[in-house]
Amino acid sequence: MTTVAVTSATEKSHKLWGGRFATGPAPAFEALNSSIGIDFRLWPFDVQLSKAWAMALYKAGVLTLDECSDIEDGLDSVGARLAAGEQPSPSDEDVHTVIDRLLHDEIGDVASKLHTGRSRNDQVATATRMWSMEAAARLDDAVRGFQQVMVDHARALESVLMPSYTHMQRAIPVSAAHWLLSHFWPLERDRARLRSARAAAGVLPLGSGAVAGCAYPISRVLLQGSLGFAALSQNSIDAVSDRDFVAELLFTATMIATHLSRFAEDLIIYGSSEFGFVQFGDAFTSGSSMMPQKRNPDVLELARGSAARLLGDLTTLVATLKGLPTSYNKDLQDDKRVLFDAVDTLQLVLPALAGALAECTFKPERMRAALSSTMMATDLADYLVRKGATFREAHGAVGRLVRKCEETQLELHTLPLSAFAEAHPLFGQDVFDALSARQSVEARDLEGGTGPRAVHAQIEAAQRAL
Ligand code: ARG
Repeated sequence: MTTVAVTSATEKSHKLWGGRFATGPAPAFEALNSSIGIDFRLWPFDVQLSKAWAMALYKAGVLTLDECSDIEDGLDSVGARLAAGEQPSPSDEDVHTVIDRLLHDEIGDVASKLHTGRSRNDQVATATRMWSMEAAARLDDAVRGFQQVMVDHARALESVLMPSYTHMQRAIPVSAAHWLLSHFWPLERDRARLRSARAAAGVLPLGSGAVAGCAYPISRVLLQGSLGFAALSQNSIDAVSDRDFVAELLFTATMIATHLSRFAEDLIIYGSSEFGFVQFGDAFTSGSSMMPQKRNPDVLELARGSAARLLGDLTTLVATLKGLPTSYNKDLQDDKRVLFDAVDTLQLVLPALAGALAECTFKPERMRAALSSTMMATDLADYLVRKGATFREAHGAVGRLVRKCEETQLELHTLPLSAFAEAHPLFGQDVFDALSARQSVEARDLEGGTGPRAVHAQIEAAQRAL
């Protein structure tokens, strides 16, 4: 995560507190307490909520119209300065202090009226929620971008056959599109989680003050509307301590990263020379400084590795929350460190993964070559069932044939009809049709299966979901 560079070391400290202290804070405390390196990025939201707060104070009769518009104009100028690249000073404790200092700089003493009836406790909770709502939308875009690349490849792979695996052992033939889209739907569920995390963030804490609410007749409903929140918090104590929305976004981010990691792992294996199902491109792979022949799928490995980071972020937050007494405690300041890290990481990983997948070339002939007639053992059992055998009996008969194949190093389709007939009297000449991979796939054409009609419908459903 980027931390913000802090300029000139000599400025006088601008604090939102201090009257009851005889001496100033120790440098070692300030160094620990400062969160500006992390939370500076919240400034657009803090400016926006501060303008809404000024308006609320005016409506409550706390500010005159002139004072309110001075503060609003001042906040606009502060926003413009920050947008133009103005950096915090070393004495700034956090983003709220920066904005307060710059506002004093712009409009003088009237700025001191803005912090009436509010606390950084409800302020930071509000700004972090606003950031989270936007982050959920950004992540949704990035996930969707990656999913679209999957759907595009899936169209080309619709009728390509490959082995499916359980326990990493060859199982039953499937359409390659069916395999690829098995990674699409988990992300689709993650997008539903993102919507729900966004909704969790959309509850406005502003007006909760430090913990007990606000003693001025502020209209929280107006604040809610002007800041784009869907609901108001019901309890001020809960409102300043609630970080469930951060946990929900972190859990969702961790699930996305986990799903990306599993996809990356498949692709790394399929891209090995031993499998050769896929060939990686140039723009998203690296070479080796020693071995001239190497092409390394770094993006996939970094995607896989970042899932560990995100799980750490989630764990850090939940471990923090579980130890806290109710309401605001300074431990909560570090919620943003993990939140930003998780979202930033996914915003790096997702476009890179989309690019890496887009430039992959799938190798239908290598996939096809990995199929063997022994993978149709289940179809052979189904064949016997259709002829009247019980599945148990059929399973036993085919199992004996497979054992024979293993002993003689043969594939099922190379056995003579007599060997089949010996294993079960219901086997006839048409048994060899049942050993076709294409037929095996075509037989599984019910909804959600790997048959051609089902896979086609799946691709269309995936495209519609985007
Ligand atoms: N920087 C603080 C945070 O992120 C703001 C809230 C400070 N509240 C306080 N009571 N000191 O949590």
